[in-house]
This record gives sequence, structure tokens and C-alpha cells, in this order.
Amino acid sequence: MRVALLGFGSVGQGVAKILGEKDLDLTLTAVADSKGGIIDPGGISIPEAFSRKAKSGTCGRPKLSALDIVNSDAYDILVEVTPTHIDDGEPALTHIRKALALHRHVVTSNKGPIALAHRELTDLARRQGVALRYEATVCGAIPIIHTLQHGLLGNEVKALFGVMNGTCNYILTRMEDEGLTYDQALGEAQEMGYAEKDPTYDVKGLDTALKLVILANTVWGMDAGLKDVKVTGIDLITPQAIQLAMDQETAIRLIGEAIPSKDLLRVSPRIIPRNHPLLVEGTLNALTVVTDLAGELTFIGKGAGSVETASAVIGDLLFIRERYAGRP
Ligand SMILES: NC(=O)c1ccc[n+]([C@@H]2O[C@H](COP(=O)([O-])OP(=O)(O)OC[C@H]3O[C@@H](n4cnc5c(N)ncnc54)[C@H](OP(=O)(O)O)[C@@H]3O)[C@@H](O)[C@H]2O)c1
Repeated sequence: MRVALLGFGSVGQGVAKILGEKDLDLTLTAVADSKGGIIDPGGISIPEAFSRKAKSGTCGRPKLSALDIVNSDAYDILVEVTPTHIDDGEPALTHIRKALALHRHVVTSNKGPIALAHRELTDLARRQGVALRYEATVCGAIPIIHTLQHGLLGNEVKALFGVMNGTCNYILTRMEDEGLTYDQALGEAQEMGYAEKDPTYDVKGLDTALKLVILANTVWGMDAGLKDVKVTGIDLITPQAIQLAMDQETAIRLIGEAIPSKDLLRVSPRIIPRNHPLLVEGTLNALTVVTDLAGELTFIGKGAGSVETASAVIGDLLFIRERYAGRP
């Protein structure tokens, strides 16, 4: 099947690299970043796209935009990996709506459109007879959406909770291990490239809240939005609070929780016993799913990173290839 890739940053380059290295029976026929794009029905030269990006700042040519690619007939699956904007989901929301309207499958790592318009987009995909898959929007490499939608079929999922933001987890771990203040740990996370220059979205708990909304809407068919999540971030946590938790053989972590029977969607710093499976270190993510048949399952893995996130995108692409290749 033919793949068009919108976004050639960390995740987009990870996806392109894997498509170039592995024989997956998927052909990259179009690619775009914010400054240009390129279409080649015979297959893009991936090394040339990387070298154009390094030399000229764009992987394509300035005259071709992402929207030109979406409206073209050069692809079967759109991979949307442009930046997340939580206010309006754009430009990804428009890209995804248009692709689905044109009967194309969509794979995305972009939380904005999936958190803002899950019901609209999944309904549209169903009506159009195509797939909309978004494994990479939640917990990077951990295949949690696939597990919830397929692996746990027959189970009632009663609750979900976990550590879904590596930046916050890194900051809390460093405050704990080295006695750093919040500002010192944040500065270190920024130096290491784990935190953005403007860390608001992560440290205020909004990134975790978006992921919680995506999970709740996926599992329980809710039509929840950010406004339905009670959110408290980690930016007011003091070294004294961390020490107090440590004195009691516990640790503080930013936890997202969804419990439909209690009408609860919440993101907040919580105290966790030291031997709890959710107590992961550094930038790791961990998510516990409580079910009626399988009991409690905890998944731990890398929540971000170029190749790790691309792993989730590639899994979605291959799922679509297996289900739909050869169908009219
Ligand atoms: N990085 C991770 O580990 C990770 C994990 C999970 C989910 N995500 C999500 O995945 C998405 C991509 O993340 P990332 O880290 O790869 O971001 P990134 O490194 O900032 O790359 C974003 C890419 O999108 C391009 N872009 C921006 N506006 C565009 C437009 N209008 N049309 C076409 N391309 C456009 C940028 O172009 P330029 O190159 O020209 O700037 C860049 O190539 C985000 O939504 C993010 O939240 C990321």
C-alpha cells in the first residue's frame, strides 16, 4: 500500500527510517514538512528526503504543501505526525478529515485531533469504510490501544491508571534521587532534551489529560474532552513533599486515572508505595488496566522517542495493510 507522511520531525523521520530499512510492503509515495513536500508515485527516495532536509531545511520542494498531498491521489494511507495543538487540533484535524472523506486510511501520533474530535472522526472513518488508528498518541511504544481494542476483547475494562508523561516522571525521579528542586530538575530535563523550552503542557498535566481522554473515549465510547478532566500538574511540588513521601517508603508520581463507575477522569500527583508496579523511573511510562476477566495488567515502556513512537505508527500501518490490502 502507498503511504503519505505529513511531518518530518522526530516521529516522521523515525517512520521514514523504518520504511527505508525494513521490507514491509509499504511504499512511501509522498512526504511533507512545514516548508514543502514531494510526491513520487514510484516511491520517494528516503535517503534523498533526509539529505534535502539536512541541506535545505525541507524534505520536499517549497511549492508543494501538506494539503496538496492530502488532496492528491498518491496514497492509500495518510500518516499524520505534525505537531499537537490542543486548542483546535489544526492543521492535523483538517488533514485527517479530508483524507477520511477521500476514503483513505489514517494513522496518527497527533493527540490534538483524536482528543478533540474522536467521535466525529471515528464515525467518519466507519461511514467511509476506512481505518483510523492512533496507537502512537498514548504512551509511545506501549501497544495500549491495540491491547484495549483487540487483545482484551471480551473483558470489561473497569479502570485505567498510570504514568503517561515521561517529562514529569523524569523531573520527579530526579527530585527524589538527587534532592533537586522542581526548577533544577526541570532545567536538567530541558538540557537533556526531555522537556520542551515551554514545558507548560507537560508539567501542568495537560498532556496526560489528553491521553486520558483518548483512552476513555476509546474504551468506553465516552465523548469526553479536556474540560471533563480534573487536572493538577507537578509544578508546585516541593523537595519537602518528595522527602516526606520517601520517609514513608512511598514516592510521588503524576497519575492519570479513569474510573467510569465513579465518573472520574483525573490527573494529579499521587503517593505510590515503593513496591508498586507503576513506580517507574526516568522517562518511562507505565499503565495499569483493571478488567473483569484478565484481572490487573500493567504495561511498562518508552513513552516517547523517534523510533519508539514510530514503532507504534508502523504497527498501525501493518495492521491496516493486513486488513485492507487488495480490497477495492
Ligand atoms: N516525539 C515523540 O516522542 C512523540 C511521542 C508521541 C506522540 N508524539 C506526537 O507526534 C507528533 C509529531 O511529534 P514530533 O516529535 O515528530 O514533532 P516535531 O519533531 O516537532 O516534528 C513535527 C514535524 O511536523 C512538521 N509540520 C509542522 N507543521 C506542518 C504542516 N502544517 N504541514 C506539514 N508538516 C508540518 C514540522 O515541519 P518542520 O520540520 O519544517 O518544522 C516537522 O517536520 C506530535 O503531534 C507529537 O505530539 C510525539
